[in-house]
Amino acid sequence: MAHGERLGAMAEVSRGEPALSRREAESGRREAGLSQGEPVLEARSLYRFFRAGDEETLALQGVSLSLSAGEFVAVSGPSGSGKSTLLACLAGLDDPDGGTVRILGERLSHRPEPERARLRSRRIGVLMQTGNLLAHLTLAQHIVLCRRLAGRPQRRRSSVKELLASVGLADHEHAYPGRLSGGEAARAGLAVALANDPAVLLADEPTGELDTATELQILALLEERRSRGRAVLVASHSPAVTAAAGRVLKLRDGKAI
Ligand SMILES: Nc1ncnc2c1ncn2[C@@H]1O[C@H](COP(=O)(O)OP(=O)(O)OP(=O)(O)O)[C@@H](O)[C@H]1O
Ligand SMILES: [Mg+2]
Repeated sequence: MAHGERLGAMAEVSRGEPALSRREAESGRREAGLSQGEPVLEARSLYRFFRAGDEETLALQGVSLSLSAGEFVAVSGPSGSGKSTLLACLAGLDDPDGGTVRILGERLSHRPEPERARLRSRRIGVLMQTGNLLAHLTLAQHIVLCRRLAGRPQRRRSSVKELLASVGLADHEHAYPGRLSGGEAARAGLAVALANDPAVLLADEPTGELDTATELQILALLEERRSRGRAVLVASHSPAVTAAAGRVLKLRDGKAI
């Protein structure tokens, strides 16, 4: 079975329903206010320097990137090539020293941190390799908190359960992260990143510590978001991630190659 077909099959298993028809995908995009191919995230000439004493690291040297609705892009490159630095700038968790980041046309870079946080909470889902969950909150509480932080009116209570069901964790609504296996924690982190149905999902090595079966499950869930017209960008060393992506941005020494 080809890799794409395998991902499709995994998506069906994880959702328990058939793959999306083109009409359903189009309606998903409309519901998100996006049209197919519309640029949702644009980064122009990003530069990021780190200085420690006399040492200067040029982590990003003029990286540009455009991510459209319905695209799944992988960022690859050797360790230290700038993948995490790029994702942090795209998420507004860090601010580039030069260049701009725009999300749905609105500038995210070079704004005060509270404004970046506000935009991020509404538009961007962030998923890291680990550390996505807080030990003292249940999965349902994580999702409710993310929605409150984004200033969203509380949706139906059942929507929390539906979101958890979409990542195969329907019965874990009241579970604390400490009770989850590695694979469950990865899927729970993804559900939390998707709590506000973001236009863009940015993931930094989300499958780095997972076994192959769980990695394929996560990739199928990311593919499902993409097919619903969201934009997905994943930084990873994993060949399975680059194989699943529609396009690969290769970095070396902070430059796109
Ligand atoms: N806060 C920081 N202070 C100083 N140097 C940093 C900082 N963050 C990143 N760097 C440096 O910037 C360069 C790019 O780091 P980055 O973490 O983006 O690489 P990466 O491609 O994500 O690597 P990996 O595959 O190991 O995760 C590296 O040389 C790193 O040491
Ligand atoms: Mg990294």
